[in-house]
Amino acid sequence: MSEPNATKKTLHIDPYERNWMRISIILVIVFAAAVTIAGFALGFQVPSPEERVDPNNLTGPWENPGLRELSPGVYDLYIIGHATTWQFDPREVEIPVNSTVTFYVTSRDIQHGFKLQDTNINMQILPGHVSKLTHTFDRVGEYPYICTEYCGVGHAAMFGSLTVVEK
Ligand code: CUA
Repeated sequence: MSEPNATKKTLHIDPYERNWMRISIILVIVFAAAVTIAGFALGFQVPSPEERVDPNNLTGPWENPGLRELSPGVYDLYIIGHATTWQFDPREVEIPVNSTVTFYVTSRDIQHGFKLQDTNINMQILPGHVSKLTHTFDRVGEYPYICTEYCGVGHAAMFGSLTVVEK
């Protein structure tokens, strides 16, 4: 008597396809690990969409952008990007060493970028939105900030400088 036909119920997966499925799963694990390490070990932060503002009518602290000292060594810094003059307002900022600065950056017109050299501050700047990140400056020196999103003919001229000085 012959064996009854054993019907295999498992789904057939081609070995080639199976390998690509394995590679995909490994990639997802690698990317998740990279995000975790960047966030917890390297201190990468995602700029928080702090609030919405009217780019045609910037009021409150935006009427007079720049530094606000909240307490000794703790500052808020308001910066506005313009594409009409391709400038950051203010263009120069000075703070004492070991200060903690919270950056609030917005645009008066179109999309810009804001990257502060040698720090984790790197944000997209959109009209109508305020991007916010915080950094503590424990090293004296000059930290240039530049626009990192192409915004027109004056894009390359759109920069400023934050100087950290001895107390
Ligand atoms: Cu602003 Cu490029």
